[in-house]
This record gives sequence, C-alpha cells and structure tokens, in this order.
Amino acid sequence: MAGLPRKVTNMQGDDYGDTFFKRSRYVRGMLPAHRLDFNTKPDEFKACKGAGNRIPLPRDYVFEVDRFGSLLADRRSRRRFAREPMTLQELSTLLKYTSGISADQFDASGFNFRHVPSAGGLYPYETYVVANRVDGLAEGLYHYDVPSHALDLLAEGSLAPRTAAICLDQAIARQAAAVLAWTAVVPRSRWKYLQRCYRYIYMDLGHLGQNFYLVAEALRLAACTIGALYDDEGNSLLGIDGVDESLSYVGVVGRRAG
Ligand SMILES: Cc1cc2nc3c(=O)[nH]c(=O)nc-3n(C[C@H](O)[C@H](O)[C@H](O)COP(=O)(O)O)c2cc1C
Repeated sequence: MAGLPRKVTNMQGDDYGDTFFKRSRYVRGMLPAHRLDFNTKPDEFKACKGAGNRIPLPRDYVFEVDRFGSLLADRRSRRRFAREPMTLQELSTLLKYTSGISADQFDASGFNFRHVPSAGGLYPYETYVVANRVDGLAEGLYHYDVPSHALDLLAEGSLAPRTAAICLDQAIARQAAAVLAWTAVVPRSRWKYLQRCYRYIYMDLGHLGQNFYLVAEALRLAACTIGALYDDEGNSLLGIDGVDESLSYVGVVGRRAG
C-alpha cells in the first residue's frame, strides 16, 4: 500500500507477526492433515475448583430495547438459502452497520467512528461484495466505498463458483445471494501497534462479523461467516497482494429457505 513501509519490526527487531500471517495460510492441496481427537479435546468451560459460594444469576434478562434480547437469542449460523434475491436495501443495511460510518460528518483529522469498535479507531479492513442475486445489482464483484456508502463495480459477471472454490469449496458461498469478503489491511494497524497489530486485526474482524450476524438476524436473513479460505485464490480474485492487504474473513447472506 502506497506510502507505508513494508517491513516493520518491534523493538527487538522481530517480525514474527508477518511470519505468522504468511505461514498460517491455507494453500490448495497442502491443508494440514491432522485428525481431531475428541478424547484429548480441551474442556469447553473452566470450572474454578475450591471457589466459595456459587451465586445463581437472575434469568430475567433485561434490555432497554426489547428486540435486542431476541436478536441475541435467535442468532445462528444459517446455511440454507432461498433462490429469491435479497434487496439492495438489505445489502445496504448490512454494509452500513458492519463497516459503515456511524457519525455522518468527517472530523477535521479524517477520523471517523464506525458501528463496531476497533483498536485505535484504525479499522484495518476493507469490504468487498460478490453479488449473486441482489435486486438492482448486476452480478459481479464490488468494493464498498465507506465514505460515500456506495459500491464500486470491479468486475461484472457470475463469480459464484469461483467464490465457493475460494471458501474451501463450500457450497454455501455459491448458494448465497451475496458474499461479503473482508480483507485485513495490515499497515493501517501496524502503523500504531507494530507486530502486536496482528492480535488486534483479528479482534476487529470479529466485531465486524458479530455485527454482520446480528444485522442479518434483524433483517430475518440467513447468514454465516467463513474463515476457511484459500488465501491466495481469494487475494487473486480481489486483486490484492496478500501481504499489505489480505482476504481474512467472509460472510455469506441471503433469504432464508423454508
Ligand atoms: C472465525 C469463524 C470462522 C468460521 N468458518 C466457517 C466456515 O468456514 N464454514 C461454515 O460453515 N461455518 C463457519 N463458521 C460458523 C461456525 O461454524 C459457527 O459459528 C459455529 O458452529 C457456532 O454456531 P452458531 O453460529 O449457529 O452459533 C465460522 C465462524 C467463525 C466465527
């Protein structure tokens, strides 16, 4: 990315964060081949032995906004999509409340708040959309332009099979009405946090993913996030270098089947 140094190390001269990023890629034909051994699966919960009294918590959960509780309770990864398209308004709502700006005016410093928290307010990601069946939107690949809340068309045509291939051949990425692809823009966060930025980037993406799920739930859509990606194939589709900007997380969305 222009104007930003490629190699940045911490005080000790290490660049283990960069190495971690490169070495944890999924490459077609070279997936790690280990079998899950459920006998050695770590405990799902920690039980604190020797702790004092257990205080049962009240179960009449209260929210100022009633619907929020049911959104949290109902959220699921939903993987069955209807053939009917989703609307452009639904896609717009999803984009706005995942990576969109929450304050509608630009600060003099160029600093903007979003609907999700981000370390240092740096928002080290970009959003791309593969539109398969969105009313009023030609099939193709788009980039979400955050400041103008608009989509820029990058490539027109059906990309559904290629998108599914990128997502470790998962059919849900072909069947969805739209696929949101989130990239990590490392220099944005590394600028402030050096090699520690890799921790924060994935936390930031996690916040983005949760908003995606909750907004989809509020719209009564089916949605699921995907972290299983053939990184280089995804980067090639998006035309990014996989170093300064790298495909990191995907959200598939569409009308619910049934
Ligand atoms: C980082 C991350 C990666 C995921 N990757 C996939 C994936 O590749 N394919 C898939 O079908 N679901 C994927 N999921 C969804 C999880 O399987 C799902 O959240 C989990 O089974 C719990 O179910 P729930 O979301 O309905 O509560 C992913 C979720 C997260 C947070």
